[in-house]
Amino acid sequence: MSILDMVKGRTDAMLPEKYKTMSTEEMEKRIRRIKQSLGTKLFIPGHHYQKNEVIQFADATGDSLQLAQICAANEQAEHIVFCGVHFMAETADILTTDDQTVYLPDMRAGCSMADMADIFQTERAWIDLQERFGDTILPLTYVNSTAAIKAFVGRHHGATVTSSNAREIVEWAFTQKKRILFLPDQHLGRNTAFDLGIPLTHMAVWNPISDILEYDGTDKDCQVILWKGHCSVHENFTVENIRQIRENEPDRRIIVHPECTHEVVRKSDDNGSTKYIIEQITAGAPGTKWAIGTEMNLVNRLIENHPEQDIISLNPLVCPCLTMNRIDLPHLLWCLENIVEGIAQNVITVDEATSSEAVSALDRMLESV
Ligand code: 13P
Ligand code: SF4
Repeated sequence: MSILDMVKGRTDAMLPEKYKTMSTEEMEKRIRRIKQSLGTKLFIPGHHYQKNEVIQFADATGDSLQLAQICAANEQAEHIVFCGVHFMAETADILTTDDQTVYLPDMRAGCSMADMADIFQTERAWIDLQERFGDTILPLTYVNSTAAIKAFVGRHHGATVTSSNAREIVEWAFTQKKRILFLPDQHLGRNTAFDLGIPLTHMAVWNPISDILEYDGTDKDCQVILWKGHCSVHENFTVENIRQIRENEPDRRIIVHPECTHEVVRKSDDNGSTKYIIEQITAGAPGTKWAIGTEMNLVNRLIENHPEQDIISLNPLVCPCLTMNRIDLPHLLWCLENIVEGIAQNVITVDEATSSEAVSALDRMLESV
């Protein structure tokens, strides 16, 4: 079920009017009070792409991998209010106990990349690929995918990956099978496989709209099958952005997220997960000039937190992730006040059957890091 289907016709899932007119000071005061009264019964993880107005209340911040690890380790919180996007909250629900409830403050906070691979397309693709390549393929999925896709991958003995550990998991996958199917981000899959020495000519692309394998090579050479999905935020960083910076400021260091296209990653100076990017900037010598190719909320936070460095966005015209941005102060407060009043609103629940298959894919990832 898509996020839009979930909220369609459910007016109770929409933010009540009173929160739209409340002052920032009042909302912040109420959130602080609720956090204090619930103490460790409440846990608020916040992804690095969240807005500052939300991040200020996060009990832990991190990239996708860190937040999955942190949620898996937390056994005391009864209420986990996930400030991130839908697939992250699903992952938290899968990794936490039945006594813990996971909430997403705005149910419309989906991920366009995760929506690019639905389970019906994936089952169809799998039948086709098995006929073509036999039992030689291990499926891997970026955690930026629905619980149903994670369950599919778990069912077929594969694993989830994040941008922090894609290299290790892809290396492991090739000890299991001759080929991988990498869902749903073609760019992370291509960039990772290329770093491991697999030539582009050994990579095919599965088009889930036409159900066609886009590949010019011979089947015996095909090692990687990339799902034709992408991140609509990171695809906006271009080779032209890099060319302009190289021309005007050759001493500016360009660092990008591996969700960017292969051409952009190859032409940049460095690439890595959100956590990796933060570590590089933090460790940089004062006065270092950076151009960062990732989500704007994070880039702006790095600019604020590191006045000693000269940081710009690789593409100043790029928008923040619109779905990440749906989580704001009014939605966070609404979610918390519902919890206090015992109203089960914005609860993310992955059914038992899906969860038990998905957890094996997640566990294989978590055990390997
Ligand atoms: P990481 O948190 O793994 O860096 O991924 C970035 C992202 O796009 C999350 O949606
Ligand atoms: Fe999805 Fe890209 Fe937004 Fe991450 S930044 S939530 S991958 S659309």
